Amino acid sequence: MALILAIESSCDETSVAVIKDGHLLSNAVSTQIAMHRLYGGVMPEIASRLHNENITIVLDAALKEAKIKLTDLDAVAVTRGPGLIGALHVGLQAAKTIAMLYDIPLIPVHHLAAHIYASEYVAKLKFPLLSLVVSGGNTELVYMKKHLDFKIVGETKDDAIGECFDKVARVLGLPYPGGIPIDKLAKEGKHTYQLPSPLAKKGYDFSYSGLKTAVINLVNQEKMKKHKINVKDMCRSFEDTAVEMVIAKTIKAAKQYKVKQIVLAGGVSANSYLREEIVRRLKASGIEIVLPPIWCTTDNAAMIAKLAEHLYQKKLFAPLTLAVDPNWKIDQYKVF
Ligand code: KG4
Repeated sequence: MALILAIESSCDETSVAVIKDGHLLSNAVSTQIAMHRLYGGVMPEIASRLHNENITIVLDAALKEAKIKLTDLDAVAVTRGPGLIGALHVGLQAAKTIAMLYDIPLIPVHHLAAHIYASEYVAKLKFPLLSLVVSGGNTELVYMKKHLDFKIVGETKDDAIGECFDKVARVLGLPYPGGIPIDKLAKEGKHTYQLPSPLAKKGYDFSYSGLKTAVINLVNQEKMKKHKINVKDMCRSFEDTAVEMVIAKTIKAAKQYKVKQIVLAGGVSANSYLREEIVRRLKASGIEIVLPPIWCTTDNAAMIAKLAEHLYQKKLFAPLTLAVDPNWKIDQYKVF
């Protein structure tokens, strides 16, 4: 097949991977989390600057680990969107430079589609499938009849579930990214706080801003009354409510669309309660559930490389005039 270099820089991880005929040769990742933690969330301008500082270092590390040179490459793949505009630019400029210098094809990759294809590192995708894509910026149910064919069945009308985890963590005084401490503390808490589940009974779309605001208001009201919030119980109550919304709609849609497989994808798919509960609920259904390896739930270029192999086979290349698309929709894949 081909030797492909893949670049990811859509948010707060700079990553470069090398793949050859399905075998991952390297996956170098430099995360900016420690810097953004100081601000309680990702600062877009700082993210772009750090990508600029790190991209050549990460590229060198990936080439060294894979024991290859840029002259060996057959193609270069890069995340074109969705993501932060300045951050995406850094990856695309690096990829275009390599494509131009070595006269190789440029492969634009959709970040969320790549999250779905990350599961190919542990399982074969079986169609039709339904993917629950849950991350800091997205909450989507994606139906796939075949490879590279994406249809959005449901999506968030406001905030993403990951953003909701991050904002709830912040109001509870927990560090960024908030999903990780909430996941941990929820295990020690009880479901004692009543929280709303907007859109729970309607269709396949999601809404997380009401849940986020409800927790923030409750915490502020308790503070004004000089009552102490039980952080562990709040984590348990919030996690149950937030995760139940995605599990219930995923299972309902999977049955309606008669899928063979459900594929979890994105940063929030690392959530231990989500993973355990969806497996438990699907046991008797005959629908297979694929959980991405934890290392592949956070952003990395290995997942970009995995999807790039499919795009390479179909020759879905782009000219060097390609621009980033921070709002690229997964169902708008096209030939450039
Ligand atoms: O996919 P990702 O790395 O970034 C985006 O592309 O958005 O996802 C990051 C999100 C953050 O909101 C983080 O709080 C959440 O994933 N996250 C989790 C867990 N680990 C990370 N949410 C819930 N439980 C976790 N264990």
